[in-house]
Amino acid sequence: MSSLASSSSSPPSPSPSASASSSPASPSATPSLATDGPARETADADLPAVPTWPDTHALYERFAALVNQPMRPIRPDAMPKVLRWFDEHCAGSKRLAERAATVIPGGVQHNLAFNHPFPLAIAQARGAHLTDVDGNRYIDFLQAGGPTLLGSNPPAVREAVQALLDDCGPVTGLLHAYEVELAERVCRHMPGVEMLRMLGSGTEAVMGAVRLARTFTRRQRVIKIGGAYHGWSDQLVYGMRLPKTGRMEATGIPRGATAHTQECLPNDPEALRRLLRWNRLRGGTAAVLLEPFGPESGTRPVHREFNAQVRALCDEFGALLIFDEVVTGFRAGLGGAQAYFGVTPDLTVLGKCLAGGYPMAGAIGGKREIMMSLVGGIGTTSRRAFVGGTLSANPLSCVAGYHALLEAERTNAPGVAARAGDRLRRGLEEIIERRGLPYVAYNIGSIVHLQTSGVLLLDTSSLWKLFRLKDEARRRKHMMEEMGAAFTAHGLISVAGSRLYTSLADTDAVIDDALNRFDDVMALT
Ligand SMILES: Cc1ncc(COP(=O)(O)O)c(C=O)c1O
Repeated sequence: MSSLASSSSSPPSPSPSASASSSPASPSATPSLATDGPARETADADLPAVPTWPDTHALYERFAALVNQPMRPIRPDAMPKVLRWFDEHCAGSKRLAERAATVIPGGVQHNLAFNHPFPLAIAQARGAHLTDVDGNRYIDFLQAGGPTLLGSNPPAVREAVQALLDDCGPVTGLLHAYEVELAERVCRHMPGVEMLRMLGSGTEAVMGAVRLARTFTRRQRVIKIGGAYHGWSDQLVYGMRLPKTGRMEATGIPRGATAHTQECLPNDPEALRRLLRWNRLRGGTAAVLLEPFGPESGTRPVHREFNAQVRALCDEFGALLIFDEVVTGFRAGLGGAQAYFGVTPDLTVLGKCLAGGYPMAGAIGGKREIMMSLVGGIGTTSRRAFVGGTLSANPLSCVAGYHALLEAERTNAPGVAARAGDRLRRGLEEIIERRGLPYVAYNIGSIVHLQTSGVLLLDTSSLWKLFRLKDEARRRKHMMEEMGAAFTAHGLISVAGSRLYTSLADTDAVIDDALNRFDDVMALT
């Protein structure tokens, strides 16, 4: 056992799903990626992907309480022990990180790569667990940033990918049956998707969706909800992470590129109405773009009625509604958040889960009449929004996405992962209460938020507040990094210390093991 976990935590034992995924059995010989065999599969079939919508009004009160009191970080006497664990157990990762730092700016290439005190190098990913190059095993709540809803490296997908690679390799540049199969399946599940155009990433898909909305409406302005992440295209590095921060992170981006991007506070339909009205006098609004669970995957969760209110406003002002379902498709269920809320957007952006954790995950979906402005092929003379990509919609991504979707249907992965999310959140709440901590844990299905520093919840709604909170934000961010490092040293990989994605592979045993580890970390605060 190699984590800092105390005796109260059992070492991460190989989960049954991990052993299932190491088996070379064919999908038919492996009835379920879930752990308890076919009986569980039947029982799992009706599990909802979002069992309950959190009481968002109560949550916002708790967020305010969290950020209005002193931080409760890892104790100064405990932190050196945490950091020592990395030196003593992660020599291989450290060596690689040092080499990386000489040839890769900052030593990491991925914006999710946790690098405090240095990035870990992972050698094996199976089911619910990751193993680093030094042989330390972790429970994986990073889930590669969200896409591995089935757990890591599920055999049913891997085997289909391997078969395709044997037949035609990853890319041909021509049509492949799996492109059609995947598009048909997504269209069947998602109410707002009548046609689908695949691209290389969520960023590309958002960029394309905005261009498409502008083409279709012949308008320019796009309103996003402040704090949301929609990738890193020039026009959308605007109001990122914290609402009303505008161009704060737009280094290297000309003002003109964001000149038609606007932001609105989350959960404020009246402010959105005012902006839409103002825009109407100046040529109108092409689209309102939002993450349907709320900015940063529900870090600032929407009130339940918010999406319907935005839909109504878009209809009133003739703007297109774009749902960025890069995270919520298919964690909110195979029909996405749009099916959950019963609100149909004009355009849908997909990424992550779409290729089942394999590369090149991005797509724009939407109503036929709008989507036809993306008509592809070199011969067309239609007025169209130009999008492309040499490697987009390649057979490798499509076979992986198709089989991942089939597997998610067969196992009800969103529902099973949500059950794990509920169990994790309930356990975290119990620990927080028992230890009298100010932290806030909540979940929306398989997306579990654990706010300890509250850095993303600071009130930045005015320039003055933003200026005043600069140092506070830096200190709280550092606390979040320290929490993340402490989680890691206890065998838990999180999304930057504040978010935890669950998957089909997270059995009750995995979650209970994780909770023991979280308890050990919280004992250090
Ligand atoms: C809601 C949302 N939209 C867009 C993106 C960008 O996707 P990608 O990283 O594939 O470019 C992300 C990535 O985390 C996301 O969470």
